[in-house]
Amino acid sequence: MYSVEIRSKEKLFDVSETLYGLFFEDINRAGDGGLYAELLRNRAFDEGVLPEGCKYDPQEKVILSPTGWRSSFDCWEQEGIVGWETRGGAEICLTEKDTLNSNRRRALQVHFHGGELLNSGFWGIPLEKGSQYRFYMFAKSDTPVSVRVSLASEKGERYAEHTFTVAGDYTKYECMFTSDAADHSARLVLSSREDCNVLLGFTSLFPKDTFMGRENGLRRSLAERLLALKPAFLRFPGGCIVEGFTKETAYRFRDTIGPVWERKPHWLLWSYMTTNGLGFHEYLQFCEDAGIDAMYVFNCGMTCQGRCPDYFEEDLIREFYEDTVQAILYATAPADTEWGRRRAENGHPDPFHVLKYIEIGNENWGVQYDTRYRFFYEKLKEQFPQLHYISTDHTERAGLKTEMVDEHFYSSPVFFAANTGMYDSLDRDGVDIYCGEYASTIGCKEGTLYGALGEAAFLTGIERNQDKVKMTSYAPLFQNVNHVSWEPDLIVFNNHVDYGIPSYHLLKMFAENRGSYVCGHNIVTESSRRRESGCFRGMDNVCVQGDRFTTVWEGDSLHIRFWDKGTDGEDQDHYDWIAENGRSQVVHFNGWSRETICEKIPCRLSQRNTAEIITDRDSFQIILNGVLLHSRTLEPLPHLTGVCTVDSASGEIITKLVNFSDKAIPVRISCDRETEDCADITVLTGESLDARNSFENPEAVSPFAERIEIPADHTLQIRPRSINVIRQKIRK
Ligand code: AHR
Repeated sequence: MYSVEIRSKEKLFDVSETLYGLFFEDINRAGDGGLYAELLRNRAFDEGVLPEGCKYDPQEKVILSPTGWRSSFDCWEQEGIVGWETRGGAEICLTEKDTLNSNRRRALQVHFHGGELLNSGFWGIPLEKGSQYRFYMFAKSDTPVSVRVSLASEKGERYAEHTFTVAGDYTKYECMFTSDAADHSARLVLSSREDCNVLLGFTSLFPKDTFMGRENGLRRSLAERLLALKPAFLRFPGGCIVEGFTKETAYRFRDTIGPVWERKPHWLLWSYMTTNGLGFHEYLQFCEDAGIDAMYVFNCGMTCQGRCPDYFEEDLIREFYEDTVQAILYATAPADTEWGRRRAENGHPDPFHVLKYIEIGNENWGVQYDTRYRFFYEKLKEQFPQLHYISTDHTERAGLKTEMVDEHFYSSPVFFAANTGMYDSLDRDGVDIYCGEYASTIGCKEGTLYGALGEAAFLTGIERNQDKVKMTSYAPLFQNVNHVSWEPDLIVFNNHVDYGIPSYHLLKMFAENRGSYVCGHNIVTESSRRRESGCFRGMDNVCVQGDRFTTVWEGDSLHIRFWDKGTDGEDQDHYDWIAENGRSQVVHFNGWSRETICEKIPCRLSQRNTAEIITDRDSFQIILNGVLLHSRTLEPLPHLTGVCTVDSASGEIITKLVNFSDKAIPVRISCDRETEDCADITVLTGESLDARNSFENPEAVSPFAERIEIPADHTLQIRPRSINVIRQKIRK
């Protein structure tokens, strides 16, 4: 039996205007060669420089941080100059001497005696026929030499060219190209017929047609795809890249402003270098252009806690504090102040009025975080009381003043669907929640309909609680198919086309259909029992199959896994019975999410203990020394989840319904007001849970709209595996 009873006259609370936002992090090469429209790879020749303090292991192609974190490194400059190659007689080598400025660590020494120097961009340079491209380079030569720069095919067919005479000290040489052909695998070619030396300090090639036509701007198609989601805000720049895995790889605002050829690059924790061309100024400019709020995340004095952390000393924490203050002043101070002047020099005399939120750290927790949080929060709040501050942990539980907490979930579709009620019992007087990162990851890495279904069910739960859960953002946003660090990602692109995964379409549907207030409603659904399976793993880590496990254990702590699928890290899926420090609990570790299954209760371990776990398909019993300690039957999986809002302006009831099951379900819909007999329904569904989009078929899973009959007390067939938004007018 399935029904939706709508009480449209009962206004529960206004919708949260900020509910749907964006989280941008430079992961999967989302920045350079992605959203940041630069077309040349390794434009400043420093991509292969080892991050400070790290050692390189050429056998494994990894770098090792001082605290012991290993990270892949596939572009060491001594093994080749990434992005660049020569043909014919030209020779190149990197030099640390005579670089363009103190932030440029390398220059490229080119010796032409005939021959060519080529840059292949980010997996090819994409050119469109008739489009314009802005090129510049900083170059020097002791004697005047003629250098031809062209856009050409891989085989050497020229589409546009310009000849410069390079002479004397570093000078900026620039020109505008118009390509006379479309080629998505083109090259930039520098050549000279003379026998000569040229030193290159910096190079750049940008399409003229960027988002809002900005120089140093964003790839228009990608920016527009983001804005089609009708976001309310942008969280940036990360993510783990803010934390880094060494002091030097932590994000600093100061490195990301000013002329791009003077910006320091930054080795990202996702194993590549960013030019920082997409910097603080550009993020704020994007927010201003898009009419959305900005949320700046800063490093609060430690590196990533999941990657052999380094907890910074007081002096360094103060340095990060200063960096954050300067960032805020850069955004907000008048042009006649030091940081306002810097912003004006960079082309924006007026303050950016978009900066509204500040997040203190990313995914940081524990005592180390609490101490740092307090330090930053108290000082920043005093100096900038107008901003809203976000904590990455429940710092209010440590007695600290907390305005909003950022919670992250990366898990399975089942986790999301089963947790649609997660926020139903939130303390209405407690802190506000920002669900800053979430995605179905386990079992749906390619971005499937299944993933979107789980997320949609979860989001209906968030919409039902948007008086407290005020903001959300899916993560990650982008994937360059040629460099994948994390899957799935909302938008997949190569150097000239892009598409949204099913979750993209879900978010667009939900964000386009907000309404004004959440009204009373009641949803009745049938459910499926959950099927858990997997082995037991005791203290000795030996794997035991079956549905019953007994062990005898000595000591004052106990940790046993059950329903363990044998997966690790981001794919982990196991239930853990943990007894330590006089307390016992059961926790489900699912992807990067952690769900408490049995709350902590007191428990006394004696010298010698008999521990026993008995499982059935969705229930378990935990017995310690013959006494039942925990037992639980997991909540069934609801087939139907939903939320109802009223759009006061258009006089419509908006009903979002998610059918997580594989069967069509008849849903009886009733309402306390007379409604028109017809309604508009938008549906996202697919042939199977595994349905997905691709470059070949980018719209395979995309919404379609229908006009349907839906008279009073009507039974509507809801398609299997579907996400539905129904808009129905209230009769005057
Ligand atoms: O979104 C990918 C990563 O997931 C983010 O960098 C981090 O915050 C989280 O662990």
